[in-house]
Amino acid sequence: MEIQAKEDMDMQKKWWHDKIVYQIYPKSFFDSNGDGIGDIQGIIQKLDYIKSLGADILWICPMYPSPMADQGYDISDYYNIDPTFGTLDDMDRLISESKKRGMYVIMDLVVNHCSDEHEWFRKACQEPGGKYGKYFYIEDIKDGKLPCNWRGIFGGSVWSELPGHPGKVYLHTFHKKQPDLNWENPKVRQEVYKIINFWLDHGLSGFRVDAIVNIKKKLPFKDYAPDRPDGLCDLTVMKKEVEGIGEFLGEMSDLIFKKRDIFVLGEVSNEREGSLPDYIGENGYFSTMFDFAPNVFGKSEKGWFDYMPVTPDNYRDCCFTSQERAKNIGFFANFIDNHDEPRGINRYLPDHDLSLESKKMLATVYFFLKGIPIIYQGQEIGMENRGVVPLEKIDDFSAIDQYYVSIDAGFSPEEALEIISKYNRDNVRTPMQWNAEPYAGFSSRAPWLEVNPNYPEINVSSELNTPGSVLSYYKKMILLRKNLDYANTFTYGEFIPFHPDIHNLMAYYRSGDKDILIIANYQKDARTIMLSREPKQILLNNYDKFSLSNLELNLLGYQALVLEL
Ligand code: BGC
Repeated sequence: MEIQAKEDMDMQKKWWHDKIVYQIYPKSFFDSNGDGIGDIQGIIQKLDYIKSLGADILWICPMYPSPMADQGYDISDYYNIDPTFGTLDDMDRLISESKKRGMYVIMDLVVNHCSDEHEWFRKACQEPGGKYGKYFYIEDIKDGKLPCNWRGIFGGSVWSELPGHPGKVYLHTFHKKQPDLNWENPKVRQEVYKIINFWLDHGLSGFRVDAIVNIKKKLPFKDYAPDRPDGLCDLTVMKKEVEGIGEFLGEMSDLIFKKRDIFVLGEVSNEREGSLPDYIGENGYFSTMFDFAPNVFGKSEKGWFDYMPVTPDNYRDCCFTSQERAKNIGFFANFIDNHDEPRGINRYLPDHDLSLESKKMLATVYFFLKGIPIIYQGQEIGMENRGVVPLEKIDDFSAIDQYYVSIDAGFSPEEALEIISKYNRDNVRTPMQWNAEPYAGFSSRAPWLEVNPNYPEINVSSELNTPGSVLSYYKKMILLRKNLDYANTFTYGEFIPFHPDIHNLMAYYRSGDKDILIIANYQKDARTIMLSREPKQILLNNYDKFSLSNLELNLLGYQALVLEL
């Protein structure tokens, strides 16, 4: 196959195009004050570690004051920092210390909903017909019937009784402690813009915009066909039908985002066919958005018990389809782990095939795709799922909800625990494994969530100066992506699939001022693949061995190579 494509030179260059994002889940990153919970000073102490890894942009999950019903995604004050994490001064220091090291900080912007303990909601409860009542969706129960039968993302109806007002209900897409803000109200949008500017003035370089596709509701509320015995209907049905989200996003982008040279990462899924340019095109609402294609693959509206495993071919096809979709439009943000999902290595590698090599292979195939690579804390050392834990030790309430969904579907308690262990959000929220000391060196006392018992083997300290470790491999990948000879090609070079028809092979070219082939044998058996051109140089190899003769490339199980052609 001849490579004809060249880099996308027409694209207007932006400062964040060649950056690597490192996601921090603050509660579990590093505890500096011995209370079992990570904090801002802890992040500051680890900045040199992140810098040595080579990451540029730190995305820190919410640290605003919060009752923590949804681990900080329920905000009770948008203008401060929760005392568990530190103070606003600590945050200012974190931003300035990051800047000193040439790094940028972004935080979550969580404005689909706030907390029921936010003063806006308190005032709405005092006077539902008043100014703050209009900040939310508050409706009357008519003839004993809720306004509609939508199911919330964490299970149950989206409607709960408005405290102090039997007969009235408020809408929450997520947990009942997360009332949805009414974006139809221009005053709410003004509040959001004020919040954004406040944090930009504090030196943030942008935001990860949480759950933003939920801000537009189909009004007036109406029922859809129930899809489970609970008589409720998945929210996605309403989201497919509703029009007009672009008006809200366009306004926010035009009035705020575009006026400041910031990096905005949208959490967008199920966007309308053909609307990708509106989101991440040259003039899009956001800088980039997550590529959720591999992540949502095989998921089912029935519940976690009905999810299908993702095979190597499924994973490749999802990534390749997204690369094609974004071509000539913009950049996706590519990831295998985040705080809402199991570890990518546990999801995208077949069970029983977890090894140093397979972990490095998966890292290689996603990291060199066109787009912005995101690394979630611990991914760089090969941290794994926590696995099965007793129900009473589970913190993630979506997992607890899914336990009962599985029981209702006829599974035994043991089977239900096994099912939820695969997708439980606690899997990735266990404390960062810094060393082999008690509590993995994360804290001096028992942390808020138990450490994964494999910390004596998998930890930063043991991997730091070990040439064959996953950590050393991530550093090599980052160095390569940033190497001035290749950076342009990795950033702007075109993506061209290489034999997407070959079972368990994931390979593609990046073609710009260099021609590069990323090739991975996505299986444990060795195999031979015919190349069409002699490589000039091996840029990266997850094994010490390399074997090529007459264009026949011999690949070991889970071998991954980056070759300059
Ligand atoms: C966040 C979740 C959170 C939800 C509600 C998501 O998209 O990533 O962690 O539970 O939004 O805010």
